Amino acid sequence: MKSTYTKQKFAFFLIATALVVLALYLTVHFDESLREWLRSRTGWLPSQDNVSQPDKAAEAIVKTWQLFLWALLAYLFVRALASLIFRLGFRLRRGMEAPTLIRNIFSIIAFTALFFLIFTLIFPGINLGALFTTSAIFGVILGLALQDTLGNFFAGISLQADRPFQVGDVITVGAQRHTGVVEEISWRAVKIRTFQNHVVLVSNSTAAREELEVCPRDNLNARLVFFNTLYSDSPVKTIHVVREAVRDAENVSQKITPIVRIRNLGDNGPDYEVKYWLDDYAKYNDTDALVRERIWYAFRRAGLNFAYPTRTLFVDRPSKTGVREGKEGAIIERLSAVDIFSPLSLEETTMLAQASSSHIFMPDEIVIRAGDPGSSMFVVHSGRVTVQVTENGRPRTVATLNEGAFFGEMALFTGELRTASVVAVEETEVLEIGHDAMKRVFDANPDLVESLSHVIAERRQGLAASHEDSGAVEDGSAGLLSSIKRFFGLK
Ligand code: CMP
Repeated sequence: MKSTYTKQKFAFFLIATALVVLALYLTVHFDESLREWLRSRTGWLPSQDNVSQPDKAAEAIVKTWQLFLWALLAYLFVRALASLIFRLGFRLRRGMEAPTLIRNIFSIIAFTALFFLIFTLIFPGINLGALFTTSAIFGVILGLALQDTLGNFFAGISLQADRPFQVGDVITVGAQRHTGVVEEISWRAVKIRTFQNHVVLVSNSTAAREELEVCPRDNLNARLVFFNTLYSDSPVKTIHVVREAVRDAENVSQKITPIVRIRNLGDNGPDYEVKYWLDDYAKYNDTDALVRERIWYAFRRAGLNFAYPTRTLFVDRPSKTGVREGKEGAIIERLSAVDIFSPLSLEETTMLAQASSSHIFMPDEIVIRAGDPGSSMFVVHSGRVTVQVTENGRPRTVATLNEGAFFGEMALFTGELRTASVVAVEETEVLEIGHDAMKRVFDANPDLVESLSHVIAERRQGLAASHEDSGAVEDGSAGLLSSIKRFFGLK
């Protein structure tokens, strides 16, 4: 479509040039005959000097005609040159055409210069510059008539000089905050194609005066898309699921990983935003929609839920054990897989599960802190933790404990302060078991104390190895056994 139009324009240009050249050729070739003919036609002109008057008139008409034809040729030449430089040249070198305004300014200056030259050559006796400059009235009239036009023209020049935006950028401009892709910057206005495919013309003076938001074409521009979840959905899981769903969507830049974060704790659930960067900002509407679509499907797969305004009535029936019924089975399974609890009967494990309480931690949260008193131990139900001691003022990891491992037993069984800090590596759920529940287990299984004292002795060795200056470990497992028994009042 566009190429047909260009072809037509080119054909029109060639025909027009050929016609002008032909007219010029004829004018020059039949110069004398033309003058002769004109002399015979202009004999009626009133004059004091009867001999030279028709000559002068014929001369003036022929020269004006020549001036007209040469000016036409100069115009065609300037247009061709401007197209060659600012369309073809720019497209080859920069991949896009130069702004219309630049082309127009070049055409005006080049044409005026050529016109002056032609005029001076054809009418050597007339000073064209003086003709314009001495005419003050002409200037005033022109100034008043072209007030707005000139304002736009100069604003256009300042926009070109300042270059706040270019063709292809997305801008938001004007009192009505029109947003669209810049298609053209002409001597009068900035042409924007909005996302509804409307063309909006914002005058250059408005664009230069008003606030302008520019999203440059060659810049990584970001967008925010909002969504929410239920309070029961884990933030760590939500953030991971959404980030993975969005990062490889079409037109989402691979250069920067999308950021997902909680922006508010709303009435119906946490409100999130996902910030992502676009390869082509002009397509942000489609990409926003694609991102929302991806989030929906990812939520479906991951079992996450969108929050919508609802009234949920919670009937709080606190269970005696503190363990929710639905989870009890999983907790019993988890505890029976913990090596130190393997000798326990199903009833004892169930009792332990009912006596435990579950806590969830986000990555990098401290579960227990070194030096604090403690009267409970923990089993890692899901996730992972690290055991850290402080060495030379910096944390050092002594051990990493996975699902099914336990910690916090040292302070619980000996009554000493926590020997190390335990920190969640990822989202981690732990089961906390208190002193009373453990005492009941020990009462029924006195042998358990012994196996526990071995674990504690081993871990103490590990801790001692990390403190080079701490010397020998004071208490062996035998000493530990008796101190645990004493602490729990066992025989
Ligand atoms: P507690 O001293 O109560 O609190 C810190 C816990 O870190 C500690 O109990 C142990 O459960 C655990 N811990 C300490 N040292 C080690 C180790 N070397 N290996 C594994 N766990 C340890």
